[in-house]
Amino acid sequence: KRAAILISGRGSNMAALIEAAKDPAYPVEIVAVISNRPGAPGLARAREAGIAAEAIDHKAFGSRSDFEAALEARLEAHVVDLVVLAGFMRLMTAPFVQSWTGRMINIHPALLPAFPGLATHERALEAGVRLHGCTVHYVTPGMDEGPIIAQAAVPVLPGDTASDLAARVLHAEHKLYPAALARVARGEAPVMGERVEIAPGDLL
Ligand code: GRF
Repeated sequence: KRAAILISGRGSNMAALIEAAKDPAYPVEIVAVISNRPGAPGLARAREAGIAAEAIDHKAFGSRSDFEAALEARLEAHVVDLVVLAGFMRLMTAPFVQSWTGRMINIHPALLPAFPGLATHERALEAGVRLHGCTVHYVTPGMDEGPIIAQAAVPVLPGDTASDLAARVLHAEHKLYPAALARVARGEAPVMGERVEIAPGDLL
């Protein structure tokens, strides 16, 4: 399967996916990285790894759907099967999302359905949860609401700051996302249906 990764920032999940896809046995080829922010550090990182990387500056478009039409055109040009959101900080319209149903996934830095949205680590600390983590899910029109594909949990330790927790979760994200994308590409993660089992030993 051919995948495009959409980013807005540093692209550490993107880098983990590119690294995983170097294995000839990995079922996904990363054919493009697209950022809605021209200054995203992840773009340079992708190019260093030999992946076509481009920016589609959302500020250059008059509406969300005009931006999405430009994005769609680039996805078509790259003949993409799967769209992988990795720190892509732009909400998409329902028609765009629905046109990619079952073919667009996202990673969220919390154990959904807990803590959708931003500042997940701060909110996890405030709530006093002992377990936190990350979730890979199919993208649906509601933010961070789509069917869950895979999750990885990490402990919240005494004295943790939000950045301690973010680092621990990010480490788990970098293991979880390549594993989950592979399951999706192999057709092992039905949009509706049983949860994908990924053994903890595969992740940590
Ligand atoms: C990650 O924590 C991801 O879960 C969230 O945004 C962050 C992106 O980080 N959606 P990076 O750009 O992959 O380093």
